[in-house]
Amino acid sequence: MSGQHGTYRPLRWTGDAFVILDQTALPHDERYLECRTVDDVAAAIEQMRVRGAPAIGISAVAGLALALRERGADSDWRAILDEAARRLAATRPTAVDLFNALEVARSRVATARTAEEAEQILDRLVEELLERQWSIDQAIAQHGAGLLPHGARVLTHCNTGALGTGAYGTALGIIRRAHELGRLRHVWVTETRPRQQGARLTTWELRRVGIAHTLIVDGAAAWIMARGEVDVVIVGADRVAANGDVANKIGTLALAVAAERFRIPFYVAAPLSTFDPHTPDGRSIPIEERDKAEVLRLNGGWVAPADTTVLNPAFDVTPASLITGIVTEAGVVLSPDERKIAALLGAATRDRT
Ligand code: MRU
Repeated sequence: MSGQHGTYRPLRWTGDAFVILDQTALPHDERYLECRTVDDVAAAIEQMRVRGAPAIGISAVAGLALALRERGADSDWRAILDEAARRLAATRPTAVDLFNALEVARSRVATARTAEEAEQILDRLVEELLERQWSIDQAIAQHGAGLLPHGARVLTHCNTGALGTGAYGTALGIIRRAHELGRLRHVWVTETRPRQQGARLTTWELRRVGIAHTLIVDGAAAWIMARGEVDVVIVGADRVAANGDVANKIGTLALAVAAERFRIPFYVAAPLSTFDPHTPDGRSIPIEERDKAEVLRLNGGWVAPADTTVLNPAFDVTPASLITGIVTEAGVVLSPDERKIAALLGAATRDRT
């Protein structure tokens, strides 16, 4: 596949199926998975075959569209959609894009009078979200690249690329644009235990676009910063609370603390779909806890005794006070706080109406 997506296309809607590049098979296997039912999509999200906040949101809408496709002749299509939305909402709790996308879909189909009409609306919405994500990512990349010094050595965490958004990427999009503009010297990629999104996915994406990078274990990040080899840290987000606190992949908070200690700017890149004005601060963000097997096992082998007690939070919360700026498609919020975020979201809503 070519065009704006380069040589791979993580998410594709055919009208009858939602086709995802299975992220659990990467980097070794480029395998596409055809989701034909809402259960296929929900399982793919739970098993992290598709992951990353914006990508999960778009997938959920595709799941709704597929639920309608599956309906029987005389079925109550509104009840089917409600049930499908409940199933999808129960997959992963932290990334708010999922819930925001389900809400957008709900309000769009509210005017539909027939199942066929609702089907068409959802079909178009999946296409629209996929296309819109491309321009959102481009705008984030443009705003963010301007923040980097020339010859920047950037450290990033988890995977925030095309795989995480279905388009160009958020934090990784900024890195890609900085590379295109000749401003980037090097990328430090953290492994991102336990699911290794940095090691498995970010290195795969950076290699595809020819950007020089070095993989480090999560525990090495503070040391690389202390040695003066990082100019900027840029990460993504799963939920930005009303006061600017940010939930993101576990390990992000440790990076922010280290960055402050070594006076390194710490940026978060997030589309407006990742903002949650109804959650006042980070304490109210639900943090997903995943299976202990993710920690006990690594690449098919045991790394600790099977009966070891494990805590496996998938995300943590970085307080707004540690964040230099949040880069969105609508601009950059420096030293984020409640007032600035309300102003950003208010202006963005006015622009859309
Ligand atoms: O558990 P994951 O892999 O879905 O977590 C992903 C992240 O934390 C990303 O930083 C975030 O979703 C942004 S992806 C553009």
